[in-house]
Amino acid sequence: MAKIGLFYGSNDGHTEDVAERIRVAFDAYEPDLVSVANIAHTSIEDIEHWDKLIFGIPTWNIGQLQDDWYIFFPKMDALDLTGKTIAIFGLGDQYEYSSTFLDAVGILADKVMECGGDLVGLWSAKGYQHWDSLALEGDYFLGLALDEDHQPELTDSRIQAWVAQLISEFGIAEEQPGSEPVAGG
Ligand SMILES: Cc1cc2nc3c(=O)[nH]c(=O)nc-3n(C[C@H](O)[C@H](O)[C@H](O)COP(=O)(O)O)c2cc1C
Repeated sequence: MAKIGLFYGSNDGHTEDVAERIRVAFDAYEPDLVSVANIAHTSIEDIEHWDKLIFGIPTWNIGQLQDDWYIFFPKMDALDLTGKTIAIFGLGDQYEYSSTFLDAVGILADKVMECGGDLVGLWSAKGYQHWDSLALEGDYFLGLALDEDHQPELTDSRIQAWVAQLISEFGIAEEQPGSEPVAGG
């Protein structure tokens, strides 16, 4: 049974494609760990069903949320993420939009924390060229940073590393059958 709900929005299909690649990467660890859905067809209740969540969002229109996330965003005022663990991945273009690279990740991360969620999956900002980003906190992005426009060759290795990080940060490794400490042992 799936343990993680992944919700993405995508105008041109890149984020949808990456969502599927993330699902497959988790699959290699444990089959059917991730259930994937488009935020365009999602309700607050659909999200509240999960304790572990991944949100996927590209930045559009110079520092704005992707269209379907933009529509969903006001509904998040009613979303209670207390006790839930959330990771975000974002797509953007670090050269054409260097001063708003991945801004939507920063906007969504703020909202997740406002809703009481526990944010994991922070990602080093080393290896990217950009002037500014709302997704930056010190030397880290508030989620996995992907650039399918200029660094598509790095996407697979970034996904693999991030998924390994999340298996630990989501506590999935400890939930594996047989991994519980033996009483008295
Ligand atoms: C009109 C337009 C505006 C964009 N604005 C930004 C931006 O402000 N920041 C950014 O990082 N990327 C920006 N992008 C790049 C997209 O986020 C990137 O192409 C992404 O892969 C699109 O994902 P999608 O195919 O899932 O919609 C923009 C792209 C276009 C065409």
